[in-house]
Amino acid sequence: MIAIASDHGGYALKIALMEHLAKRGVDFEDLGCNGEPVDYPAYAEKLCQGVTAGQYERGILVCGTGIGMSIAANKIHGIRAALCADCYSAAMSREHNDANVLCLGGRTLGTELAKRIVDTYLDTPFSGAEHHVRRIEMIRELES
Ligand code: RB5
Repeated sequence: MIAIASDHGGYALKIALMEHLAKRGVDFEDLGCNGEPVDYPAYAEKLCQGVTAGQYERGILVCGTGIGMSIAANKIHGIRAALCADCYSAAMSREHNDANVLCLGGRTLGTELAKRIVDTYLDTPFSGAEHHVRRIEMIRELES
């Protein structure tokens, strides 16, 4: 199960991505918003807490640029949020960084590109290579 959430700036793209996820048969939960003006940190916090609690395997956050969501998400211990605007970065965010949250910009990305980025993010496993595991452990140490 994955979680998806947006603020008003990411709402239209979130709707398109939810249709895409449903078509793909991906099990997901929408944590809001419903298009009304909201404060994105609250949605980043809710989704990320669900991810770190193990309720969701991974999450997708969408705001106008993806920047606010990624800044907020990366404040939560255990979250490695990647703001991606291309498929290569999305693949590397999984292979190298084991990113557990993907952030996207609803006002900066075309819908079809965003769908490809989501597909790449969901379909790419963490490499598990020792040097990447070590670097992620070093990131964890930065949190303490
Ligand atoms: C909301 O207008 C906008 O600031 C927000 O969606 C996001 O882009 C912030 O980073």
